[in-house]
Amino acid sequence: MSIITRLKRKKEHIKYSLMMEKHIKRDVFKDITIIHNCLSEVYFDELDISSSLIGAKLNVPLIINAMTGGIEESFYINGALAEIAREKKLALAVGSQKIAFKYKHARQSFKIVRKINKDGIIFANIGTDCTLDQAKEAVKMIEANALQLHLNVPQELFMKEGRRDFRGTCERIREIAENLDVPVIVKEVGFGIAREEALRILKAGVKIIDIGGFGGTNFIKIESMRQKIKPYKFENWGIPTAVSLIEVLSVAEGKAEVIASGGIKDGLDVAKALALGAKACGIAAPILYRLLKYGKKSVLNYLDEIIYELKLTLAMAGANNLKELSERPIYIGGNTYKWLKFRGIY
Ligand code: FNR
Repeated sequence: MSIITRLKRKKEHIKYSLMMEKHIKRDVFKDITIIHNCLSEVYFDELDISSSLIGAKLNVPLIINAMTGGIEESFYINGALAEIAREKKLALAVGSQKIAFKYKHARQSFKIVRKINKDGIIFANIGTDCTLDQAKEAVKMIEANALQLHLNVPQELFMKEGRRDFRGTCERIREIAENLDVPVIVKEVGFGIAREEALRILKAGVKIIDIGGFGGTNFIKIESMRQKIKPYKFENWGIPTAVSLIEVLSVAEGKAEVIASGGIKDGLDVAKALALGAKACGIAAPILYRLLKYGKKSVLNYLDEIIYELKLTLAMAGANNLKELSERPIYIGGNTYKWLKFRGIY
């Protein structure tokens, strides 16, 4: 595929994800309720929302998830995201670095994140079709603390120019996880991970899984929008975020750290994911939308709001910290309960 096609596609992903974000109704944890604690004895000003991931402390359990790099716009976007991550002490992932292997000019738009956020937690990002050498190069390019390996079969299939050969994925994950100097995070991009595949990912030696569930950014829809195809067939394909999170936690607890992402919108969503057992939450399009429509300040306000809502939830659940939150009983209803019961998880 030519560089021009790749660059054009990256621009279009941003354009259509913003169009989608404007209309989408994010509500991925509607079936989950954290049980209210009428005897909460917390002191709000001393609530501790720190978590840990990849052996490092996360002051705030949030990750600005992978989005961009390589195009002209990425200099501003990645630069601004790096400033935001630095200011709010969040982890940050860059978009796929594949473009930078062939197109040297593209590297600067990735490197800028480390330049700006020298001591922050930064994740490199590439697809599972990459080689071990490319994985090492991606990490080195931005002195990353971990590498996200993204799984995106539906997206590739719905891209006219996308990949069609997915053979050897698990073996490549195993080889990279075994030989890389930094931890590997296997990550879906919005279609979720089932427990059967989570088990295979764990068996491949991976210690961190980002479930990237269904209910937020939808790449089947984005690819259909790019190609002006309507109605959007297969637009409901995927494992809902709440279901995927619980499925993966059911096999990963004690063996791997789990990140919740896909459709997360506010502090209550974040609290529910953490109460279920996630170590952190990834958010992508809502951040990009605010950055490009209203500017950096709007993203900072949005993040402050999320953090405040997370603390409100902790206080009402009577939890002083995230460990106590994860011990609070939870009610699961609706389709999420039906799905999990059918799957024998409840
Ligand atoms: C993405 N996402 C993504 N993921 C990845 O692993 N590598 C990538 O290069 C990209 N590129 C990308 C571009 C744009 C414009 C968006 C909006 C998203 C997927 C992203 O990291 C995340 O998994 C999904 O967007 C789901 O999260 P949200 O958007 O529902 O919070």
